[in-house]
Amino acid sequence: RASRIADSVLKLMTLDEKIGQLVQAPGQWNQTGPAAPAGGEQGIREGKIGSFLSLWGAAETRKLQRIAVNESRLHVPLLFAMDVIHGWRTIFPVPLGEAATWDPTAVERSARVAAVEASAFGIHWTFAPMVDIARDARWGRIVEGSGEDPFLGSVMAAARVRGFQNGPPNTTLLATVKHFAAYGAAEGGRDYDTAELSERTLWETYLPPYEAAVRAGAATIMSSFNDIGGTPAHASRWLLSEVLRGQWGFRGLVVSDWAGIEQLMPHGVAATKAEAATRAMNAGVDVDMSDYVYQTDLAAAVRAGTVPMAAVDSAAHRVLRAKAAFGLFADPYKHSDTTRERTAILTAENRRAAREVGREAIVLLKNDRDALPLAKRGTVAVIGPLADDRNAPLGSWNGAGRAEDVVTPLAAIREVVGASRVTYVRGVPVDTPNTDGITAAVRAARAADAVVLVLGERADMTGEASVRSSIELPGEQLLLAKAVVRAARGTRKPVVAVLMNGRPLAVPWLADSVPALVESWFLGVEHGHALADVLFGDYNPAGRLPSTFPRATGQLPMYYDHKNTGRPPEESNHYTSKYLDIPWTPQFVFGHGLSYTTFRYSVPRLSATSVRAGDSVVVEVDVTNTGRRAGDEVAQLYLRDDVATTARPVRELRGFRRLTIQPGETRHLRFVLNREAMAMLDVDLRRVVEPGTFTVWVGGSSAATNEARFTLTGDVVFLAPAPP
Ligand code: IFM
Repeated sequence: RASRIADSVLKLMTLDEKIGQLVQAPGQWNQTGPAAPAGGEQGIREGKIGSFLSLWGAAETRKLQRIAVNESRLHVPLLFAMDVIHGWRTIFPVPLGEAATWDPTAVERSARVAAVEASAFGIHWTFAPMVDIARDARWGRIVEGSGEDPFLGSVMAAARVRGFQNGPPNTTLLATVKHFAAYGAAEGGRDYDTAELSERTLWETYLPPYEAAVRAGAATIMSSFNDIGGTPAHASRWLLSEVLRGQWGFRGLVVSDWAGIEQLMPHGVAATKAEAATRAMNAGVDVDMSDYVYQTDLAAAVRAGTVPMAAVDSAAHRVLRAKAAFGLFADPYKHSDTTRERTAILTAENRRAAREVGREAIVLLKNDRDALPLAKRGTVAVIGPLADDRNAPLGSWNGAGRAEDVVTPLAAIREVVGASRVTYVRGVPVDTPNTDGITAAVRAARAADAVVLVLGERADMTGEASVRSSIELPGEQLLLAKAVVRAARGTRKPVVAVLMNGRPLAVPWLADSVPALVESWFLGVEHGHALADVLFGDYNPAGRLPSTFPRATGQLPMYYDHKNTGRPPEESNHYTSKYLDIPWTPQFVFGHGLSYTTFRYSVPRLSATSVRAGDSVVVEVDVTNTGRRAGDEVAQLYLRDDVATTARPVRELRGFRRLTIQPGETRHLRFVLNREAMAMLDVDLRRVVEPGTFTVWVGGSSAATNEARFTLTGDVVFLAPAPP
């Protein structure tokens, strides 16, 4: 039906009106809030604008929609798009933090709440999920994704798409998978930079989450700023047409990134805007975000014959079909709800959801001698530049989030133990060289029964264009931590360091020297409550790292599923793959996270130790809570193809489950390893299952040691031909 509506409208359109559907104009801020840019309203009347971005508000979107529907020749409704990334007004954990839950249900719930809130403001379309795999933590946008692993990233990508797109009428958003493709592989972590990688790595590591999101039904996808092998993604016919549409069968919209079409000029693959428009349209970019290149130059390219009319027709048809499928022809105002805009946001229920997802995201990195949880009696010194920062927990891309809504760690700790028993000292700023507050911090630490240090990064130190050359603690925070830890030495008072940050940090000194270390990411409006739940034991933490935490910036890029090499690291052999000055191991491995209880895993049992290649193997394992309190455990299954025709990673995540286990209880888990789980790309990049031995590990992190082995017999099984 949506296609039929699109057909009938397209037939009536002039070339300029078709191109109008492909133009996405940026909103701008005027005195009352977001509004159309100068000339925007006239542009709508003339059918020159198909959608807006960064423009929201029930009244404003209604007003512009009314112009489109009543005053333009063909009455085609507009789409309103926005970066709704981890919440709208109720801000949830940043996506990297949400990935640390290893709980797709929680992630879907967060996206659902975001969609419910944002949709009331007239927003139809979100530029999320960001599914770029990132292995270099210098890259600031690592905060927006799900970390380093394609399997975890794929599960999270699909969960977010479901959360945004599936729900009661008028509460859904069109999702955008971004940034296609391999944007997270930017060299040196520098934003917008070249992604230099082999086709194998592209297929095995970077592409799976995009494909998972497409298969989950994502309505749109955004091309990425980077080039791959010299072809900027915005000009890559191979990526946008052959892989995306041809191989994956994607029928939705491809939207450019901000000015990504015009930027084909500085990339050096187009000399003029006309050439840029031609290359982008011929590659498969349907919608031009913000730079008006299609508006100014596409019609001439069609007339000159460099862009086929059919390409514009298809792109315009896709936009019209998306609008029709979304129900905008039936009810153009369906998302602009002035009542819901006031009542649906920041509700007690939404805040509760943010708190619950937030505490699931917290990773207990270290807890020597049960320093945590803290007692609720006694006095607490809360120290550090982020302890009472109301902006940081919002993270980057925080929609309509407001600092005033944020519960800081300090505020929440005061709620738990009573304000009169909490001393707060900022100590040092986040990243400027000022140590004046250290003496007061030491004094506070000496006087208190427990110390909570809150250290890390400001929100603006991750996100777009927020690249750091060093992932160590910024400013003088380490000096502060050393002084405070020294002050507490010899006493029995617990010193807890809480990290608040949007990327893996290298914190070797903290990891060695503080008894308890907690990774809290940027958890959103309920940051403080979620953290206090963990610190004081009202919630037993179970978050797991979605990214390896290196010991030093110099170890980057670092990820668990590396190849073994011909000379794997060996202490006693100088000529092996390692560093002279630091250990080769990370500080904290992928999948790491502790609990206030302990778990024991049985050795994995296999349904067979020998099956024919192509058949499945069932892996069963028992997990027992051997401690004294209930808790969640994240059971992780890793697989290695021991010997293959191409070198395989040392292990790869192939399954995981987060589950609650009562003290003394044993839960039985069953994972099915099917042919897809055992598949690899052969030398010709064909998807195959090769006979031979495989090792399986199941445990609580990527360092799991309980293993079992099986053999695949028979011939190679071909699952898919080489990619286009
Ligand atoms: O969605 C974003 C993208 O991730 C980065 N450039 C701007 C877009 C729209 O705001």
